[in-house]
Amino acid sequence: IRSATSAVSRGKFARLTSSDLSFFEKTIGNEYVKTKEIDNYTMDWTRQMKGGSECVLLPSSTEQTSAIIKYCADKKIAVVVQGGNTGLVGGATPIHDEIILSTSRIKNHFHLEPSSGVLTLDSGFILADADNRLAEHGFMMPLDLGAKGSCQIGGCVAAGAGGIRLLKYGSLHSHLLGCTMVDGKGSILNLGGTLRKDNTSLHAAHLAIGSEGQLGVVTRVTMGVVPRPTSILSAMLAVSSYSHCLRLLSLARSKLGEILSSFELIDGDTMKCVERNLPLKNIFEGSHNFYVLVETHGSNADHDIEKLNGFVEEALGNELAEDGVAANSENERAHIWRLREESPLAAAKDGYIYKFDVSLPLEHFYRLTEETREKLKGRARVYCYGHLGDGNSHLNVTTDGEDEELKKTLSPFVYNWVVSHGGSISAEHGIGQLKRDYRSLGKSAAEGDLIRALKGVFDPHGILCPYKMIPSTQ
Ligand code: MLT
Ligand code: ZN
Repeated sequence: IRSATSAVSRGKFARLTSSDLSFFEKTIGNEYVKTKEIDNYTMDWTRQMKGGSECVLLPSSTEQTSAIIKYCADKKIAVVVQGGNTGLVGGATPIHDEIILSTSRIKNHFHLEPSSGVLTLDSGFILADADNRLAEHGFMMPLDLGAKGSCQIGGCVAAGAGGIRLLKYGSLHSHLLGCTMVDGKGSILNLGGTLRKDNTSLHAAHLAIGSEGQLGVVTRVTMGVVPRPTSILSAMLAVSSYSHCLRLLSLARSKLGEILSSFELIDGDTMKCVERNLPLKNIFEGSHNFYVLVETHGSNADHDIEKLNGFVEEALGNELAEDGVAANSENERAHIWRLREESPLAAAKDGYIYKFDVSLPLEHFYRLTEETREKLKGRARVYCYGHLGDGNSHLNVTTDGEDEELKKTLSPFVYNWVVSHGGSISAEHGIGQLKRDYRSLGKSAAEGDLIRALKGVFDPHGILCPYKMIPSTQ
């Protein structure tokens, strides 16, 4: 188990004492101050990062959170903020002995304004639960991701989560209207509001998006939600080459237009890994080099079926696809999606894993996988799946055991390649601790200065999520 890309020494923070624990117990109740059996909090989802925290705090409100942070700021106790602990870069995982503040119990307030489609909810609501509640009113969360059953809305905002339907609905920046954040001094900041249009100030609430808990603890979120589509269709196509995948993307955009909601890629090696490790059955006979998953969201099934069938027929007719299946039932649709959404699980079961999440211009998207494969021939297995419609590749490399040499050389190779091809070293997973050493790659010094200055305003003592995306002010 490693704590970070490179070792980082502990900051000058106070050590936890029994009188601190007594304060926390008095503030939020004994049973919500956990000091035993806390591995599920101290370790990340990939089980490759683990910190040495001695306690987990589970406040149930903004006020309790504020009292805790005020106290920690005063005593200089470092805190890591954690939602559903589904992140993939260790942003919510402690490195040293930071206390863990979990937002899991902050889930009382949930209010939908049906006429405007504006939802205000506490940060601890699980994404899928919030979405199910919205379904009763004909609405839907605009974002969806594989971790929906465990990730929390506050964590989604803090991580700047993207997911599988960003292609149609846009990122969280398209939806977030306001949020409540407890900053590093314990002050409660109500940022933005409930209006869809409000240009009276800087859109300060948007600083929370992708902030990884470094500016404050998000305790409440206000966002626009979208009408729930009454017609959802999915199809999977088997494709021989990456250039055909790109041509299919153009065809999907022109043929499916406004109803195109997902355009996802699974490469042939990933599909074999899914078949081998989960195991799940491929829907196609034989193996293909690529698979694309296309989904549509609309409100008129006949119209959408006609469009999707037209797209699949043209793809097969033009020989852009070698085979194609449109899901005929909810079960088939679920199966197609499992192949994509469980690709990370299949890769995680494949051995020691090195995960990447990068944005690339589409012309370079798959060349990274090919060059990585070439470089690691015989030494590691290389998988690529991701959100092709968004230019977001999830490159995963696995080895039978931990390979020290690879750990040192693989990230610099991938990240330098990405930046030199006009990409970003983090598309949607963030920086956390995993990419800390590379956080300034591709960024200007001026942007770095601005971010550090903002950190100083929100968290002058540097107690929130230290050692990660933003260099410590300590
Ligand atoms: C996904 O798209 O499946 C997630 O971002 C998880 C991952 O990249 O492994
Ligand atoms: Zn993803």
